[in-house]
Amino acid sequence: MGRGVPSVFFYFLVFLAEILLFGVLILSLVWVQFYQDGFGWRENVKKEFNLHPVLMITGFIFLMGHAMLVYRLFGCCNKLGAKLLHTILYLMAVPCIVVATIAVFDSHDLRNPPIPNLYSLHSWMGVVTIGLFALQLFVGFFSFWLLLLCEQGTSSFRASLVPIHSSFGLITFMLAVATCVTGLTEKALFSLKNPHYSTLPDEAYYYNAMAMALTALAIIMGYVLHNPKYPPPSPVAFVEGPSSNSHYVMTQHGYVYREKNI
Ligand code: HEM
Repeated sequence: MGRGVPSVFFYFLVFLAEILLFGVLILSLVWVQFYQDGFGWRENVKKEFNLHPVLMITGFIFLMGHAMLVYRLFGCCNKLGAKLLHTILYLMAVPCIVVATIAVFDSHDLRNPPIPNLYSLHSWMGVVTIGLFALQLFVGFFSFWLLLLCEQGTSSFRASLVPIHSSFGLITFMLAVATCVTGLTEKALFSLKNPHYSTLPDEAYYYNAMAMALTALAIIMGYVLHNPKYPPPSPVAFVEGPSSNSHYVMTQHGYVYREKNI
């Protein structure tokens, strides 16, 4: 059972995804700097709010997007290295998401008069997205690291968690895209009053460009990550099989049987 070589098209799609991942992050930074007065903390809640979109995009889109691409890009080489990089990127997203969440709640609570919390469709979607991310982190740690403490005994259970973890990774990413797009729409409607959003002032192009980049990312990431051709599943653990000259390989899609000398 040989592993295929990723096609030129695969690398083209990854290249496009990279442009979009960097593009949406840079656009958000430029937008906040030039149109929203930059960043601040509790002494200026309007500026504190600006941390929310930028850090949510950093955590949920930029870092999580890269964490998922890592397995597809480096799955061919050093499995442990890919796993470590995947975990580090995921962990780097945690402080971004925590600070982004604190910033948005502060921007409601510390305003005079305070704005009610969790009333909007966007905020409800946000809660589900954050909840799924937390669950992913827990399952990821549980399956990849904690259960390694008892590698042989828990290998089939861990193998059964891998497809769940990878499917929910993509689902969380898609939900994050949808949440970001609803947040951008909401912010555009709040901010662009004079001149109105419908007249397409310069700032409107930033909102629309970020939303379009996110939409394109949803399409490309969905295609690349869901397609078993790009590249085929990578072995993440080796488990001895019933006979001495063979072994089972645990892949993202369960166990496959392989000759030892492959
Ligand atoms: C996956 C990314 C995101 C998540 C998980 C998320 C989550 C949340 C949550 C939970 C709230 C409610 C806070 C409260 O009720 O006090 C909120 C509010 C808000 N978010 Fe986001 N957000 C995300 C991305 C964005 C982006 C990219 C923008 C773009 C500007 C944005 C704009 C807003 C705005 C304007 C509010 C205040 C109004 C409201 O409560 O709906 N969000 N967000």
